[in-house]
Order: sequence, then C-alpha cells, then structure tokens
Amino acid sequence: MLTRKRLDEISWDDFNNLSLEEKAPYLVQANGQAFHTLFSQQFDREQLDQLCDLATRIRRISKQRDGVKFLADLLCHKRAMLYFSQPSSRTFLSFYAACQILGFRIAEVRDPSISSEMKGESREDSIRTFSSYFDMIIMRTPLQGFAEKVAWLLSNTDRPLPVINAGSGKDQHPTQALLDIYTLVRSFEKRGGLENKHIVFCGDLARGRTVRSLSLLLRNYSNISMTFAAPDHLQIGDDILQQLKVAGIQYNVTSDFKATIPEADAVYMTRIQDEWDSKPGESAAFNLEDFSFSGDDLARLPPYSIIMHPLPRRTEIDVACDNDPRAMYWRQMRNGMWIRSALIATNFRRDTEITHYYMMNLK
Ligand code: NCD
Repeated sequence: MLTRKRLDEISWDDFNNLSLEEKAPYLVQANGQAFHTLFSQQFDREQLDQLCDLATRIRRISKQRDGVKFLADLLCHKRAMLYFSQPSSRTFLSFYAACQILGFRIAEVRDPSISSEMKGESREDSIRTFSSYFDMIIMRTPLQGFAEKVAWLLSNTDRPLPVINAGSGKDQHPTQALLDIYTLVRSFEKRGGLENKHIVFCGDLARGRTVRSLSLLLRNYSNISMTFAAPDHLQIGDDILQQLKVAGIQYNVTSDFKATIPEADAVYMTRIQDEWDSKPGESAAFNLEDFSFSGDDLARLPPYSIIMHPLPRRTEIDVACDNDPRAMYWRQMRNGMWIRSALIATNFRRDTEITHYYMMNLK
C-alpha cells in the first residue's frame, strides 16, 4: 500500500513535474484508498482486487429491491457534478447510473461555451465555482492533465473534493481501464484468472486513450503478454512500451492483426480516432479491413477467447459477431456501471458498509 502524501503540501509546479508513479501517493486518503482517480498508474493489485470484489457485491445487491434501497441510501446526502466538455454518452450515462445506484443527486455541465468561461473566466475559476455546490467532480476534457490540475486546485481549498478523470485528451481513461479489467477478470474466472493471458490490441493505438490506460493497468497481473496490432502510423506510443519493458512485460508490435487472432485470449478492438487528425483523411491511409474483426474471423478465434471494444464502434467489428458468446462488448459496458459504483463508494469510504451488508444478506 502507498504511503500517503498530501496535495496541499506541494506546489502545482513541483507536483506537475513528478512522474505519474511519484504522483500516485498524493491521490490517496488517510485509509490508503483512492481519493482522486486520475490515471492507471495509481492502482496496485490489491486495490484492483478490492474494486472488482466490491463491484460484484454491488451488482448482486442490486438484484433485490431492499438491496437497491440500501445502496441508494448510502450517499443520498451527496451531490455529483458531471463536467463533460468532450462528446460522451456511454461514459456519461455509465457514471450517471453509477451515481444513481449510490443515491447521489447529479448535475451536469456539457457545454462550457454557455458558461462564464465565455466571459473570460479561467477554466480553473469556473470549476472551483461549480465545485462549491458539489461533493464530487467527474470530468472529461480534451486537455491532457487538466483533471490533475483540478484535483490539485481543489485539494488546496477548504473543500477538497474527489475528482475522477473520465477521459483526458489522447492520454488516459482510467475508469475505462478499470471496467476492462473487471470484464477480463469476470471472463477468465473459470480459466485461472487474468494471469498468463495474451491480450491483442488492435486499431488506433497511438491516440486511443483506453488502450494506453489498460495496457498499463495490466502490468499488475503476472505473466500477461500483449500484442499491439496497428498500421505503423497509428502504433502504440514508445512511452507505453518503455513502461511495459521496465515492468518486464512481454509484448509484440505488429501490423499483421489477422495472424494474432488464433493466439489471443482477448482481442481488444478500437476505432480510428480521426477527430485528432490535423488534416482530413490523414489517418485513413491504410486498409481498415486488415484491422477489423469480421464474421469470418470468428472461426479463427479460440473458443474460450473474448472480443472487447470500449465503444463506440464504427465498422471495426462486424455486427455479425454481436450474438457470438465471445462478443463481450455489451457486457463490458454494463460492467462499467458496477465498477464505477465500486470506485465512488470507495472514494467515499462506503466499501466496508457494502461488504458488511453483502455478508449479512447475500452470502
Ligand atoms: C472511448 C473514449 O472516449 O476514449 N469511449 C469510451 O469512453 N467508452 C473510446 C473511443 O471514443 O473510441
């Protein structure tokens, strides 16, 4: 467990200059649980196991009316702000639902262009103002590092609130990585767990933040191997490969996706993130079919393997795959609601109460 450091005892510049590993101890609260959720590197195996177990308990408790009432009472005195200044519907709704499960009252900011930012107010001032009405901020922005800045800023006020990064630029999407881990753990429950598995990532790995966050989180499981299948210009960043190398993870980089399918325990497909192109069509100079999962590919995928996708999908997974039992992407999304509830309950220290309820009523 990390030894806690305090964000109100370090200047923004000093904090900002730390590596993410060095930043991690500043994000925990006194009991060692996460307070802010900003990047994958802050989670260790113990926290991941606790979150997955808690998500399963919440999921099972939610099957009963009394359980739903119990959960909805836990944080009914709290309010959450969803600040999403980048397009989102599934992550937005997933967080919305996760907050509702725990009883939060919720408000949203979707379009800063109709706020006082347009009158020349800094983003920092806007968020600080908004934060006065709430007890938690969940934010998605195109700006890398902005959620960190907000976490630091609010921790240096007399009302520190937890900040959750729901996607920051091309960089990180830590709660997507948590739900991906939960999906992998559930899928391999009867196959000896997530250890020793081979995960193939395919698509736009250069700008897909979900793959960046997940590949780093996977370092917590022993003997994982990863293959990154992408056209050269969309291949995974060297910064990620370097971190995998340091952790002693076996990985392979290829542009031959189809050859990897028979060897995969999980195939993680992603769409081309062309909203980041500097000129139209820039990233499209390759044959998308080579980096798509077709109906025919099902026959070459081992019977125990799974297909994942953070969604939204374009054509990189053929709809013919949707009803195959190995197509995990719809269940993956629902898992997001459970693991996000688990994360928020942990941020607000309601985890022990949930576990106690579970042991008394469902065990
Ligand atoms: C992803 C994202 O926003 O990074 N979507 C999501 O949150 N599930 C993936 C994408 O947009 O391609």
